[in-house]
Amino acid sequence: MKDRLEGRVAIVTGGGHGIGKAYAMRLAAEGAKVVIAEIDEAAAQAVAKELGDAGHEALGVRTDVSDPASVEQMAQAAIRRFGRIDVLVNNAAIFATVPMSRSPFDEISIDEWDRMMSVNVKGPWLASRAVIPQMRKQGYGKIINVSSGTALKGSPSRIHYVTSKAGVLGFTKTLANEVGKDNICVNCVAPGSTLSEENPDESIVKMRTQASATRALKRVQSPEDLTGAVVFFASADSDFITGQTLVVDGGSCMH
Ligand SMILES: NC(=O)c1ccc[n+]([C@@H]2O[C@H](COP(=O)([O-])OP(=O)(O)OC[C@H]3O[C@@H](n4cnc5c(N)ncnc54)[C@H](O)[C@@H]3O)[C@@H](O)[C@H]2O)c1
Repeated sequence: MKDRLEGRVAIVTGGGHGIGKAYAMRLAAEGAKVVIAEIDEAAAQAVAKELGDAGHEALGVRTDVSDPASVEQMAQAAIRRFGRIDVLVNNAAIFATVPMSRSPFDEISIDEWDRMMSVNVKGPWLASRAVIPQMRKQGYGKIINVSSGTALKGSPSRIHYVTSKAGVLGFTKTLANEVGKDNICVNCVAPGSTLSEENPDESIVKMRTQASATRALKRVQSPEDLTGAVVFFASADSDFITGQTLVVDGGSCMH
């Protein structure tokens, strides 16, 4: 099925790399006009160009999701260029491209903890706050947050990241309750360990391969494995679904 998002405008935060780029590509392939809101401006412009060259409408906007003024500019740029905002994918995070420590809980610096919360938890809140006035005007909107299987299962390292992704679960349910009256749906995707790195070294490939053993479906997860869930939450097929978290991990965490 194609063209499920014809006429829709979607913003993907962190859409310049990894899984976010795959979301941007797939949303465009389904007919959406896509805004790539990314801290790495060159990557945002490169993805927008790739989409433009393929015949899609796309806009790259340098955005820091932890900065209220920056996300306001993101929303305004989307409205100026495309006239509306139907979908926000809150994908940007400190994870791989902007890397995190994978350390025990007592070895993580206070500065890194604060930065993690600022990007991974405050970022989705600020970005949602920036787009919801437009969605309210339209009487329609889809917000898709990105958590992680680690928030449901726990993990023996990176407690700041896992805590931030657990925050996204509560954020999803509360925001869904608050904006349901405006016909805005808020849902969440929780990916499993995904080979999203652009140039993975041997240790990363090994780590992602080992995750296969914990799954019902025994293979490495790719960014493309996640895009169907995001299109579903972005499309009319999910118009009466809100406040939900869908785990996409090949059956590792059966939530
Ligand atoms: N890859 C996995 O195994 C995995 C598993 C579970 C969840 N996730 C989540 O999926 C999402 C995508 O992860 P990924 O694997 O593609 O990693 P990634 O690090 O490549 O993607 C994150 C993107 O966000 C951007 N970004 C970072 N800080 C930003 C900021 N302040 N403002 C705007 N953009 C910013 C980065 O430049 C990057 O493009 C993240 O939310 C991550 O937590 C990934």
